[in-house]
Amino acid sequence: VIRAVAKTAMMRGWDVIGVEDGYEGLIRGRFRRLGPADVSGLLTLGGTILGTSNTADPYRYAQVRSGRVVLADVSRRLLRNARGAGLDALILIGGDGTLASAAKLQRDGLPVVGVPKTIDNDLRGTDVTFGFDTAVGIATEAIDRLHTTAQSHHRIMIVEVMGRRAGWIALYSGVAGGGDVILIPEVPYRIEAIAAKVRERRRRGKLFSLVVTAEGAKPVGGRPVIRKLVARSADPVRLGGVGFVLAEALEKAAGAETRAVVLGHVQRGGTPSAADRILATRLGDEAVRLAAEGSFGRMVAVRGGDLTSVPLEVPGQGPRLVPVDHPLIAAARRIGTGFGDEG
Ligand code: F6P
Repeated sequence: VIRAVAKTAMMRGWDVIGVEDGYEGLIRGRFRRLGPADVSGLLTLGGTILGTSNTADPYRYAQVRSGRVVLADVSRRLLRNARGAGLDALILIGGDGTLASAAKLQRDGLPVVGVPKTIDNDLRGTDVTFGFDTAVGIATEAIDRLHTTAQSHHRIMIVEVMGRRAGWIALYSGVAGGGDVILIPEVPYRIEAIAAKVRERRRRGKLFSLVVTAEGAKPVGGRPVIRKLVARSADPVRLGGVGFVLAEALEKAAGAETRAVVLGHVQRGGTPSAADRILATRLGDEAVRLAAEGSFGRMVAVRGGDLTSVPLEVPGQGPRLVPVDHPLIAAARRIGTGFGDEG
């Protein structure tokens, strides 16, 4: 997206300034002039050449005062820095938290265009976010590789993928990788239902099973597994570890040796897929077009394959969850995939 934004803006004769480390750089005034050479060769790179921060929120910025962490509103400082750097428009790439703050900055006088970014694919207002396709590809490859041990050792293998609130990565990679059970936050599971699926497969001569779980999967009436709290973050809860909890319980309930693998940030790294490169190019180009026509306060979005835009407030209105009657869930159920809620 940075490449596409910078290239198309430069073609229009605009000056392009990169902000280092997201809101952190805007708050601290860390700007970097970008030229053609800076944005060349980026297509094959993941991450961002500018750096990022997922803890800096200009309206709730963590500062240590008298030995205590307090959350302060430093948006005025940010707006001063943006004016000082001569910014006429800010193209902001991020997830729900980033874009919710962007909506406030727009109201406070900074002309902003947002671009939706998260591997979780859970942003309201757009059918797809960039990063998702790459993450699904990596998770699918991992599932393929885990099949080897599952099959050879007659085991249950559990692979935990990202997805705190929405199970898009688990659903898509689970279907693509042929997971026997897919667990997503939107469909709470019962261990007995998963164990029943494993036993049913065994009766049919399939001595192994593969379970794909989103990190946010939770049992009926229960909560997701929290790995840690990040005090400085506006959204402090970090999930992780449901795979191990499931492994313990399933080993007993299904009577089969079970192993769990947590993919974690592997899903966020490396070379982007072709589909993500194409999407990023389209989103970046469209963001500059919106800025050129003065359509600020909007997020570029994809609807049914076409580009559109929605107000910046939309992605902040809660996560875009997988509908429990999603056609892909229905199709997966029809081919015999379990979702941990059967029976
Ligand atoms: O929002 C994207 C996401 O990848 C989540 O799926 C995951 O829980 C979280 O970020 C991890 O955040 P961090 O890198 O800060 O631990």
